Amino acid sequence: MTDSPSFNDQNTDQTRSIRSFVLRQGHMTAAQQRAIDHLWPQFGLDYQDKLLDLNHVFQRPAPKILEIGFGMGVATAAIAQNQPEKDFLAIDVHGPGVGNLLKLIAEQQLSNIRVMRHDAVEVIQHMLSHNSLDGIHIFFPDPWHKKRHHKRRLIQLEFIRQLLPKLKTGGYIHLATDWQEYAKQMLDVLNQCPALTNTATDYAEKPAYRPETKFEARGKRLGHGVWDIIFIKNQ
Ligand SMILES: C[S@@+](CC[C@H](N)C(=O)[O-])C[C@H]1O[C@@H](n2cnc3c(N)ncnc32)[C@H](O)[C@@H]1O
Repeated sequence: MTDSPSFNDQNTDQTRSIRSFVLRQGHMTAAQQRAIDHLWPQFGLDYQDKLLDLNHVFQRPAPKILEIGFGMGVATAAIAQNQPEKDFLAIDVHGPGVGNLLKLIAEQQLSNIRVMRHDAVEVIQHMLSHNSLDGIHIFFPDPWHKKRHHKRRLIQLEFIRQLLPKLKTGGYIHLATDWQEYAKQMLDVLNQCPALTNTATDYAEKPAYRPETKFEARGKRLGHGVWDIIFIKNQ
């Protein structure tokens, strides 16, 4: 793995419009760096401009779940441990988080996670085949509170339109946020997709498989509510 991810900074690809993250330096602990040095060859996937064969990557034809923005990866590892029958492709740009998730994979002896350190928008566009995913998790994407930054929010119609073809019919997309106005935007965007059906009237009950994430705990300490949104692809 290179020291920092190589992004399409020039934005020459006309379809790539959202820059949903800021690359924070963040402190990489020695243990996280060790995890990257030792475990990346086994559990890390480098970005390439070529479609991935996920069954080949995980060496089995199991259901495949994509997670975008796993943060420190604690919830990712917990879900993967509780759902050993599924495989998880976890993507984030944050180096210490990548190191932390690799460390958790080793500590919990997980074989059903692969980690990418890259912009998920580019991975979706260039590496994921249509109808290759059984589920998509996007938990607490950066809310970009200020109005002038709303254009950087990940959950926008254009992005969801790029993402949906990758999901199989019958597959699900599960979003969560602690920012009510973003929750409304998420609901509004997914409601505009005829291929999707809401599993609830508006917001869903938090499913048992989703543990509290680090970002969620922080939101709760600040007095925020939490909204889960789960839609199924029907066609
Ligand atoms: C607010 S944090 C939430 C992390 C975690 N899901 C949680 O709930 O604790 C959002 C994460 O999404 C990542 N992120 C944002 N845009 C991304 C993108 N386009 N591709 C990959 N990761 C992204 C950020 O680096 C950050 O780690």
